[in-house]
Amino acid sequence: MTEPTRPTSEAKPADTIKYRKNGLTRGVTDELAENMKQGWADTERADLAPIPQAAHTARRRAELSAAYPGETLVIPAGNPKVRANDTDYPFRPSSDYVYLTGDQSQDGVLVLAPAADTRHDATGHHDPGHHATVYLRDRSDRGNGEFWLDNHGELWDGRRNSLTENERLLGLPCRDVRTVLDGLRAATGPIRVLRGHDAAVEEVLRDRTTADRDEEFRVFLSGLRLVKDEFEIAELRFACEATARGFEDVVRVLGTDTETAERLIEGTFFVRARVEGNDVGYGTIAAAGPHATTMHWVRNDGRAKPGELLLLDAGVETNRLYTADVTRTLPVNGRFDALQRKIYDAVYAAQEAGIAAVRPGGMFRDFHHAAQRVLAEHLTSWGLFGDLSADKVYELGLHRRFTLAGTGHMLGIDVHDCAHSRTEEHVDGPLRPGMVLTVEPGIYFQEDDLTVPAEYRGIGVRIEDDILVTEDGNENLSAALPRRADDVEAWLAGLRA
Ligand code: GLY
Ligand code: MN
Ligand code: MN
Repeated sequence: MTEPTRPTSEAKPADTIKYRKNGLTRGVTDELAENMKQGWADTERADLAPIPQAAHTARRRAELSAAYPGETLVIPAGNPKVRANDTDYPFRPSSDYVYLTGDQSQDGVLVLAPAADTRHDATGHHDPGHHATVYLRDRSDRGNGEFWLDNHGELWDGRRNSLTENERLLGLPCRDVRTVLDGLRAATGPIRVLRGHDAAVEEVLRDRTTADRDEEFRVFLSGLRLVKDEFEIAELRFACEATARGFEDVVRVLGTDTETAERLIEGTFFVRARVEGNDVGYGTIAAAGPHATTMHWVRNDGRAKPGELLLLDAGVETNRLYTADVTRTLPVNGRFDALQRKIYDAVYAAQEAGIAAVRPGGMFRDFHHAAQRVLAEHLTSWGLFGDLSADKVYELGLHRRFTLAGTGHMLGIDVHDCAHSRTEEHVDGPLRPGMVLTVEPGIYFQEDDLTVPAEYRGIGVRIEDDILVTEDGNENLSAALPRRADDVEAWLAGLRA
């Protein structure tokens, strides 16, 4: 079987670099080829300081190293996916690669090779150790024309860092990614690879890795990210602050007595995400009226009407790729009506109970049970389950018809962070200081649900905040956005005044 071709082009002479099939400028004269080699300044930078993550990524790699003595560990960033011709889909590097390197380059590969020498630290302790190397795309060659003749040469995609510059930035050795496959072929001893990101790397290692061992590796990497360090917490704090500003932007474009397109709401938030961060951390849910009862409403092709609720679930992703995940449910005209407020207050009470249950030593599941219990009590008190008691409803899980989802999840580089980590250290484990999670109870009455009074149908409410577990309790990182119904109304009025 032939190996998949890496998208990084091997160095090749100008006359072998292919032109686009229907490109207008076909040939290259010798004169032009020669001309393009000349007259470029040396732009190598010697003034670069390490990225702020560098101190943290070294510690994270050491933790990984200690868990796999004697094994080669391969963590690819992944390759861009072609959308059409020379246009790619937006690229996002694998989260574990970002966590361990701080780098965001396409095609990058982090390799931890067992150290051949036995090292001792300053205290004389034996350190089994690994040597870490990042394989990256180097600057494109001007001598062979690659920089302008290749679709992904620097003239088209922009200047890349040289390997030396990247060594300064990332604080670890960098090599040309075009050598990575040969390097992996030459590696001896057991190897594990993070699968799902780089087909060429996986193919080279196909006979030397097993699905079980690689899955165990993936689970370990996911669990490594459960407790956030101070760099990550600062990123998440900023993500929440920028997200709050994005919500304010939305309120300013939301008509009080006119309709507002959900796409305008999505687009308004997106501007904030791109100005203050890298992107949105997930597809914005701008769900007006009955759309709010669809958990993942990202079509956003409706309109928010006065009298309806707008459920906005959106998060800014920072330039270092940490995302917020916040939901507010807002009365479009500025005031909740009586039924909207009754449902909103029930969700608020559930969220308060959930947040109160987030503390170190408690179990991850506690906040879920606390919030869902409150929701079940309210739904029962509204007569939605006949004569059944709240205890019975909760025991049978009948409330879930209207609460649909779990109450929250870990948050970090991924919006549903650490999703592959071991159940015992995550959903069935205890909370530890430094964990960050969402608390996001909701009530959703589907438009076609004949089991509820007609006036309930089509109402959906969710309130979602990002909660840091601290040494003695928790901190709500998204507290800048009001949650109580009165406070939400006052906030809307203030921004629209
Ligand atoms: N926005 C996705 C979620 O809340 O989990
Ligand atoms: Mn959300
Ligand atoms: Mn969420």
